[in-house]
Amino acid sequence: SQRTPLIAGNWKLNKTIAEAEEFIQALLPRVFAADGVDIGICPPFTSLQAMVDSARGSAVRVYAQNMHQAESGAYTGEVSAAMLSELEVQGVVLGHSERREYFGETDKALALKVPAALEAGLEPILCVGETEEERERGDTERKLRHQIQEDLAKVPEDQLAQVVIAYEPIWAIGTGLTATPEQAQEACAFVRALVAQRSEEAAAQVRVLYGGSMKPDNAAELIALPDVDGGLVGGASLDPESFAAIVEAAK
Ligand code: G3H
Repeated sequence: SQRTPLIAGNWKLNKTIAEAEEFIQALLPRVFAADGVDIGICPPFTSLQAMVDSARGSAVRVYAQNMHQAESGAYTGEVSAAMLSELEVQGVVLGHSERREYFGETDKALALKVPAALEAGLEPILCVGETEEERERGDTERKLRHQIQEDLAKVPEDQLAQVVIAYEPIWAIGTGLTATPEQAQEACAFVRALVAQRSEEAAAQVRVLYGGSMKPDNAAELIALPDVDGGLVGGASLDPESFAAIVEAAK
């Protein structure tokens, strides 16, 4: 496709600055010649500056894992899009299922966060996906439709293509239960079709990633699917060797 695949490693609550430095020094020589694939790492806030500095001049881009929708104000513990942008990070993960489940992240907040990120020049990686229960009840499409419609409602049509959407079935996250290629393709194609309802042009350009127990041994098959444009990798992104192997699988 005309879409460059993106492999993004979401470290979640892992790695001190020292550990992040050790990772990036081991990763860089392994992805030195990674043509035709975009590479992202998503460290905790505390390592963002160090990773931006260490990755400068390489193919590796840095993403934050969350941000607040407001420009400033009395929101203790939060950071704004402009603050991330000032660090020269590439973008920000928004609406990860862990944030939705454990930190009360709502579609209402996400509807403000996604445009706020774009406004600040950040590339949002918006996460969507169904629970095991929702899949069993046959509610996967209903859930995806709801999340995509709500979370992207305030994004202007001409900016939709700049959003990366990560389809992450919640039952596949950190469980070792990867979606089958059929399930991943079906859901990612559905996500793209939802974007097409707003803009056909954006749908052709928007990158849809798969996330949920992506590993070196299943990555190639998933990334080769017609509507899967890369991966959002959790556990396997913590080790430079396995993360580089997934990048390699996307070439
Ligand atoms: O953001 C990453 C996903 O939650 C996937 O995590 O690869 O450990 O299943 P996982």
